[in-house]
Parts: sequence; C-alpha cells; structure tokens
Amino acid sequence: MNDKLISTQYKQKAYDLANFDLTGSQSISWESPSNIALIKYWGKHDDQLPQNPSLSFNLKNSKTITNIIYQKKEPDESSIRYFFEDQRNVPFEKRIKNYFEKIAVYLPFLKKLDFTIYSKNTFPHSAGIGSSASSFSALAHSLCSIERELFHTLPGQDEFYRKASFLARLGSGSASRSIPGKAVLWGKTERVTESSDEYAVPIDEQVHHLFKSYRDAVLIIDSGQKTSSSSKGHMLMENHSFAKARYLQANINLEKMLLALKTGGEKLFAEIVESEAMTLHALMLSSNPAIFLIKPNTLAVIEKLKEFRRKQCLNFAFTLDAGPNVHILYPNKIQAIMVNFIENELLPFCENGKWIDDEISNGPKQIFS
Ligand code: PMV
Repeated sequence: MNDKLISTQYKQKAYDLANFDLTGSQSISWESPSNIALIKYWGKHDDQLPQNPSLSFNLKNSKTITNIIYQKKEPDESSIRYFFEDQRNVPFEKRIKNYFEKIAVYLPFLKKLDFTIYSKNTFPHSAGIGSSASSFSALAHSLCSIERELFHTLPGQDEFYRKASFLARLGSGSASRSIPGKAVLWGKTERVTESSDEYAVPIDEQVHHLFKSYRDAVLIIDSGQKTSSSSKGHMLMENHSFAKARYLQANINLEKMLLALKTGGEKLFAEIVESEAMTLHALMLSSNPAIFLIKPNTLAVIEKLKEFRRKQCLNFAFTLDAGPNVHILYPNKIQAIMVNFIENELLPFCENGKWIDDEISNGPKQIFS
C-alpha cells in the first residue's frame, strides 16, 4: 500500500461509487460482537483518531444483529427508517442519519438509496458494554457488503475488513476493533508494522493459544443508561491534567500486553488489564467535571474477586468498560470453578442476578438466510 492516508484513498475512489443499477429491494444482514478493551482507548483527536493505540478481544454472545433492506430512492424522499428491537427509534435514527451524512464522502451511493434498518442487541445497550461498538461494526460491515454488491469492489478479505473498520471507526472509535480476529489492535505502534490510527488490524498470530479460548463473564451491576457519554469523556481528555502521562502509559502497557499475549503470561496479562481498567475510571473521576460511573457493587465485586484469587491461586483478570459492569476474563479450563463462584458469591451484587456468560470469538459474520 502507498503512504497516502487511507481516508484520502477512499475519497479518491469514491467517484466510482456513485452510479449503479438496482431493481427492486435487496437485503443484507451482519452480526457483530462487542469487544472488551485490554488496553483502553480514552482520548481522541481530529476525526475520531485515537490518542493512543488500544487492543481488545472480540466477544461472542454480546452482539448486535443488523438487517438492512435497501432500494433505489426517489429524489427528495426521506431515506432512513431505523427500528431497534422492532420499534422505530427516532434518537438512534437521527444518529444513523448523521453518520450516513458523514461517511457519504466515502460512499456516495448512500445518498441514492432508501434504507430500512432493523437492529437488535443480545445485551443491554448504553450501559457501557460496548453497544456502540457492535452496532456501528454491524452497520459498517453491512455497508461494505452493499458496496461490494453494487460495484463489485472490495474483492479481498483484507480490503473489505479494512474499509469496514475504517467506516465503523467514524461511528464509534471502539467499533473499529469489532472486525474478524480474536485480538484486534487499533492505533499506530511501531510494535506492529501494519497498525494504523485509521483502522484496526487483527493480531491473532501474535497471541498464545491459551488466550484464544479465554472466557468473559460480564456481571451486570446496573443496566441503566449511562449518565455520561463516552464522547464527553473523550472530549474531557483534551484539557485533562494527566493526559500526556496517560498516553505514554498506554504505550508502555501495550508493549507489556503484547509480550504477555505472545508468551501466554497470564499474571502479566491480569496486571495490565486491571491497571488499564482502574486508570480509565481514575481518568474519568479526575476529569473536570468528574464522570462517576462505578457503583458500590462494582467495588464490592472487585474486592470479592481479589480475595478469591488470593485464596485459590487462580489466574484471571477483571476489567471495566465505561460503565459499572464488571468483566471477568479467565481461561477456559477454570470455567466450572468460576461459574460456581459467580453463581454462589457474586450474583447478589448483580442487578436481578444478571450476568452474561461470554467468550472470546472470531468477530463479525455475515448472515445468509
Ligand atoms: O468507542 P467509544 O467512543 O464509545 O469509546 C469507548 C471507550 C472505552 O470503551 C471506554 C474503552 C475502549 O477502548 O473500548
């Protein structure tokens, strides 16, 4: 690939993506999982570019399923209807319209199509379990499929997923990482040659098999809507007193994480994962104004987990996204012990005893009916 920014390349190629033949309506469906960040993305610049590289595992059961029905649009007609869990959802519809406006520079055919979009999640949305990641990823993969159908472009897998990641990023930064691969890196680092700030890349080849069968128990401490959006959090990083130190730390942690992933170093893995989660919330708490998302039960669960780990000498790690819910990342071989502990000791701290028994997966999939 040449050195030109991929956004510039996509803009130049967009001239060929305006005129097409299409009779009747067509349908396309994708399912995309949420991802859980091991190295957190918190702070951005320009058009959704990250201040530091981030790294995540794709989940399996926490996913968005999106079906898009599209046809040629009559000029001047309204062009997007968005249904979330079978109900027309006007706030989401507005967000999608703005998103389509924004990415039309790369996909001009969007302006000539009429869309009915049906989307559903297998987990609570807006509760900090990466629902914007899974939704924008499912949407971006669907749009790339539509491009491929209409123009016979994006023939190679790498090309297809690079563009899907690029487009997903413009909806929600973390969505760029919900692309095929178990472990995915977004953000330029000299440690991974093909890495980029504009899109994410899978790094499975650099991950020890032990981590590839890791599971993620997501304890739902509170499924209520977040009191502060992650966009606001990213914005507050612009004048944050600790911003510079954080971006430096993230790069150092990434280096250690890559080593842990490669060598199967579970202790180092847990140390970094947990430090990243605590740092994320410490940055939120020290923002001005402060963002306060953890709940008393979040801390109670963490205390319990630490005590259990000390007594049982087990390898597992806890982490938090931008919300109160606790993710426990653990190796497959201790599943029975962990499930037993969760069900007997941790469920009283969860909202209505709710938790998601999830695992690491290979990422999004097209659904063929
Ligand atoms: O993708 P956004 O803009 O919703 O940011 C989410 C950032 C975190 O989920 C808190 C961390 C991450 O890297 O996923």
